[in-house]
This record gives sequence, C-alpha cells and structure tokens, in this order.
Amino acid sequence: MYDPVLLQDSRGTWHALWTLNPHDPTFAYASSVDLVNWEPQAYPILDGGANRQLLNIQESGRGYDISWASIDTDTTYYTTSTKDFKHYSKPQKSSHFNNNRRSIKIGGEELTGTTHRVSWQTLQQMLDKVAITNYKNSLFTETTAEDKIRFKDTKDVKGSLKIRWNESKEISDKLLGIFFEDINYAADGGLYAELIQNRGFEYSSKDRHEWNSKSFWKLEGNATLEIENTNPVHVNNANYGVLSINQIGTKLQNEGFGGIVVKAGEKYDFSFFAHIPTGKMPVKISLVDTDGKVLTEQTINVNSNSWKKYSIVMIPSSSASKARLEIAPLSTGTLSLDMVSLFPQNTFKNRKNGLRKDLAQTLADLNPRFVRFPGGCVAHGDGIENMYNWKNTIGPLEARKPQGNMWGYHQSVGLGYFEYFQFCEDLNAIPVPIIAAGVPCQNSSKHNHKVGGQQGGIPLDEMDDYIQDIFDLIEWANGDPKTNKWAKIRADAGHPKPFGLKYIGIGNEDLISDVFKERFTLIFNALKEKYPEIVVIGTAGPFSEGSDYVKGWEVSRDLQIPIMDEHYYQPPGWYIYNQDYYDRYDRNQSKVYLGEYAAHLPGRPTNLETALAEAIHLISCERNGDIVEMTSYAPLLAKEGFTQWNPDLIYFDNETVKPTVGYYIQQIFGNNTATTYVESDLNIDSHDQKLKNRIACSVIKNENEVIIKFVNLLPMSVDLNLDAIDISQTDIQSIAETTLHGSPDSRDVKPIKSQMNFQDLKDFKLKPYSFTMLNIQLKELKKK
Ligand code: AHR
Repeated sequence: MYDPVLLQDSRGTWHALWTLNPHDPTFAYASSVDLVNWEPQAYPILDGGANRQLLNIQESGRGYDISWASIDTDTTYYTTSTKDFKHYSKPQKSSHFNNNRRSIKIGGEELTGTTHRVSWQTLQQMLDKVAITNYKNSLFTETTAEDKIRFKDTKDVKGSLKIRWNESKEISDKLLGIFFEDINYAADGGLYAELIQNRGFEYSSKDRHEWNSKSFWKLEGNATLEIENTNPVHVNNANYGVLSINQIGTKLQNEGFGGIVVKAGEKYDFSFFAHIPTGKMPVKISLVDTDGKVLTEQTINVNSNSWKKYSIVMIPSSSASKARLEIAPLSTGTLSLDMVSLFPQNTFKNRKNGLRKDLAQTLADLNPRFVRFPGGCVAHGDGIENMYNWKNTIGPLEARKPQGNMWGYHQSVGLGYFEYFQFCEDLNAIPVPIIAAGVPCQNSSKHNHKVGGQQGGIPLDEMDDYIQDIFDLIEWANGDPKTNKWAKIRADAGHPKPFGLKYIGIGNEDLISDVFKERFTLIFNALKEKYPEIVVIGTAGPFSEGSDYVKGWEVSRDLQIPIMDEHYYQPPGWYIYNQDYYDRYDRNQSKVYLGEYAAHLPGRPTNLETALAEAIHLISCERNGDIVEMTSYAPLLAKEGFTQWNPDLIYFDNETVKPTVGYYIQQIFGNNTATTYVESDLNIDSHDQKLKNRIACSVIKNENEVIIKFVNLLPMSVDLNLDAIDISQTDIQSIAETTLHGSPDSRDVKPIKSQMNFQDLKDFKLKPYSFTMLNIQLKELKKK
C-alpha cells in the first residue's frame, strides 16, 4: 500500500485508493462506512502510464474524479471518472494535478496525508477496534515461554470427566485428509520419484532467474551442447538437447536433485528419446559415485534418424547417496536427446512413473480420508497463464506441458492428475481437486492480466471454454471411455474404471472481489446444472475473519454452496482461545472444509507446543464434526534446504523422511476416527480461565470402541477423575493409551503406546505438555 488517499463522500462513505507497484496499470480501491470494516479491494485496469503515484480523488458532478501522476522519464497527469468504482471513463491526459494531501507535524514528526473531520463516535469505534485487536493479540501471542510466570501460583490441577452417553451426534467420516501442493520441492525432487533433474531441457529463467535449459546438465570433453526446438518430440515439450561430439570421451552428466540416491541390487528404469542424422551411435549410460566408481553401465545403440524411445534397466552394484548419471557417446557425430529419465522400479505400490516409496508410505500412514491437489496457490497460479491446467498434466510424459512453479522453481508435471488420482485410489482416499475460480492468486506478480488488475481474471468471453475444461475433468475422471474422448484418455492410460470423482473445490483463498464472484458464480451454476451429483467446495479467503471471510460466506449463502474451504495460519494462542470457533457456526449453512491451517510460533518452528495447539483445534473440529466435514494441515511436505514455507508437516531429504511432532498428532487423529461424537463435561477445579483453556477433551465412539483424546498444554500434570465416564470393568476388553509429551520446544517427541488396566483409570493423570488418547475396546456395544 503506497501513498494512500482517503475521501469521505457526501453520503458519508469512505473511499480509499492507493498505488501498488511501478508496473501494473492499476491502483487499489476499497470502501468503508465506518473506517473499521472495509469492503474487499478492487484493482481496476486503466490506461494511463506506468509508475503511478500521487493518486487523488474528488467528488464531482460526474461521481468521483480520480487523477494520478505517471512518472516515467517525464511526468504525465491523467484523470478518469467513475460513479460506482466498477466502471471508469477512459483516462485523459491532464495539464495539472490537484493534490489533497497536506503535511502536518504531530509530536514533532512531519506526516503527509489527507485530513478529515470525524465524529467522536467514529473515532471511538476505531479506538475500540484497536483496543479489542490488541487485547486479542495479547491472548493469541501467549506462548509456553511465559508459562512459568503465568502459572507460578498454580500447584495441583485436578478435574473430572463425565460422559453423557445419551447425548451424541453423527460426525463426518472424512475429518482428516491431506493437502498436497508442489511447494518446498514436494513433487519434483520429492514425492515424484524421477531422479533426473531438468530431464526435458525445459528449465528456464521464467522458473528461476538464474536457470536455463541446460541447468543441472554438465558437459565434459570435446563437445558442445545446444538446445533446439525446431523438431521436438512433442510441441508441449519443445526443447531438446543436441550434442555435437568432436572427440570420443564426451560425457553429459546429471546429478539429479542434489545427488542421485541408488541402492545396490535394486532396479532402475533408464530411458531417453534420441535420434542421430544417420547410421548408428553406441551410447554408454553409467551411474557413477562421487569417487568416480562406476556402479552400473550399459550401452544403448541409437539407430534412428527420428525420435525413438530407448529403455534399459540398470542395477547398481553398490549403494550411493550422491551418484550421477553419465551419458557418453562412443563415436563422434551429432546426438539429439530429450526426456532423459532414471526411475526406481521400487516405487509406492510399484507404480510406473510412481511415487517415492518412503514418502508415500509416510503419507499413507496418516490414513487420510481425502487428498487435496494441486494446492494451495499452485492451483490458481501466478497470473492467468500460470493457473494449473489439469489437461497439461495427463497423457504420455513427453506430451505433458511443464510450467513454472509460483514458488520459484519448475514443475515437470510428471506427478500430474493421473498419478494423483491413482495415489488417492492406492490410499483409499477421496480425490479433492482444486480448480482456479477463473482468477489467479491475488498476490500474482505477473502484470499482463487482461481483466481485474492484480488478481486478474479470465476474460468473460473465454469462461465457457474454461468451464468446459472443468466438465472435461469430470468426464476424464468418471466418464465412459466408449462415449467420451477424455474418459478414453483415462482408459488408455491404464484406468478403464471410473475414478469416482465426487468433490471439486473452486478457488483457493481468493480475494472475494467482483471479478471473483462473477466467475465463481458462472462455474458454480454450470456445474450445478450439468453435474448435480458433484459437491462443489467454495472458498472463504485466506483468514479466519475479515472482509474476504465475510464476503466468501455471503457468496456461500447466496448460492447455497455445499461446503466452504477456510484457511488460517494462527499462533498457538489463537487455537487455545478459539475452541468455540465452530461451536458458534450456524448448523443450517454450508459445511466447512478447513483446507489449510497450522499453528505458527514466532520464527515458525514446529515442535510439541505447535502440535498440541493443533491437537486442541482438531478436538474442537471433532466436537463440531457435524459441520466441519474435512480438515487438512498445510503445507504437507518440505525438502530440507529447499523450503519456501515453514513450518511443514513432513521434512525430508533425498534419503530420509523426518515427520514432525505435528505429523504424529495428525496420524493419531487419522487412525482413530468414529462417526459418533459423545457429549462430555470436562470439569477442572479452578477459576483460572487461562488454565482451563489449556485442557481439552473429545469423546467419540464406534460400535465396540470408545476413543477419548486429551490435550494438556499446562506445565504441570492434571489429575483426572474418570469415575463418571461410566464404563464398568466388565464392559472392557482392553485399554490402550497413546501419549506424546515432553518439553514444549522439543521437535523429536514421538508417540508412546502402552496397555492399561481398568485400575489405572483410577489414578489417571495428564502429563505436563501432553497429548493423551485412551482407546477403550468394549466387549459389546455400549448402549446407554
Ligand atoms: O500452504 C502454503 C500456502 O498458504 C498455500 O499455497 C496458500 O493457499 C496459502 O496462502
């Protein structure tokens, strides 16, 4: 927000305008009736020079006149007028510029801006808002670091739990799922098991400033490597490498994503597309360790003058954690190459073009009921051209269309829609694809949008085609290969049976602007008419409150959207003090998909404290499982050394998977589910609300099982009387206890499981800073 300017019009409405950056042909606008609550921002696109500065606004007979100075080599002034801040007249050059700003000194400091006379009531409302915000922030920023002082007078904490067996409700059977986004190298170099980096020579400076088509390839010997695009394997994958070998001894090398991990005796599929002008060229393919030791090598005879795929299986004689691939032509001449791939056969469920086994297994161990894909911001992209287009990510790998990743690297889209749906099937999880709502990310850095400014938007006359793409996705996933071309593509890829797509998310925490609403409504109505069986998930902005949240929910009520996707990243204190967040929700409105959340401490570590805050929130979601349909922590995966976002649920490097404490909480919730929530009363013998807010509990039950989860975010243990849970010794088959506890800043706490006796319930304690789950298996159905 640069150089804001404010006007109160004759009806009392406040209008704020400000400039954004030196490139975009736009400015920002928002209005308010009380200077406290603001309508969502709009970014009108208007001619009128670059580097706009010193905006000004005045009320006039035409409505409102807006003027600005465009400062390039010269300064030019422009004016436009509007009645409604949606439609603007064509900007005209102007010879002068009225600046409403004045400079005044306050407390010795010179400040420049517009000055306004406001009622005391307006001022008081603003002061109240600031006071309330500051008060809430003081609660939400409480951390365990101050617990010693906060609870210095607290000695023993005692309480009791009573279960009200005859008060229960049905809750969602898909409360815990996963959010997969290609952020932090989650896909290429991560879950996608391809070992060669830049296999198609498609890296470019658009992905990252310092990259080009030859990045991560190294040439040794008397030869040159040129990148050409005149005769590609496929137009979607335009570049290929042309090696001109002047002398034998040339080696083209690739170290993958920071070194290739290979295991002795395991099988690796090597393949490339190649051609030579004439005759034959033997090409030696080797895997070599850092000492130059050859782990395996074979020769391929390239014998075609048009693109042909060559494949071999390589079996390294010993393991290495930083091997490299070497391609060594054994004669001089010209060799064209593309889609150079080295793929372990040992992938998750042994899928071809599959997923890294240890990482995928770690995800499977969460027992996720659904998988969201492809984001996050990757779904709506950095500008219209960067929106994730599912059609570019299916079919033969050489025909897929790679693209820049808005997190500053490259997406080969080798892990595309087909692999995603197949992974869901392998996990027995529901696919929840997220499609952009016809608008890119509101924080897009691209500035060539045709409509709507910073957020942009697909031109309305192109929306029919865009909606058709979404219809095609449904047909690709669910259609009949005999009658539908997209379904046939699915069948040809090896999946004749429908995938059974039921949910589609439209939008990702978008700015709820007019540009968004128009496009979302078109998509929503079209889907409702053509595919009424598909459950559409709408979006309520990036925060737990504020204008996008309010407007997003307004859209939901207007259109009767079945489920709304909420996102919020909050400090642990927010979760502690917002345990009633969903208790307050209207049971008759849309259900909630909490699509992204995490507890963020200053410096963004992930530890027992953040995990316990997330557990408190999951307990609240379980209690509200009648309206909270789904939840997914975000982001999911992060490659160490390649993160754009912290904290994440699972860290990894090329060889090791490192689940966080939060991961184990998700795993416990994912594997201990039920569809019945039983009301209970947790009574803590204290008047200290700060103390009471740090203990939470939920009770759920299946036919022969009762699951009780507790969080104690206090520095002392809590003695809990369980007499009133009203389960007698004779009812019980077994009791298993799972706990996680330790120092709140600990990052390596793991669950500890033990069996308990009925007698142990008599002396039950929640350990300091702990999560505890009792899993009580009953001899027969407990009917109370
Ligand atoms: O989870 C990381 C990012 O956070 C997502 O891409 C985006 O939706 C949110 O802002």
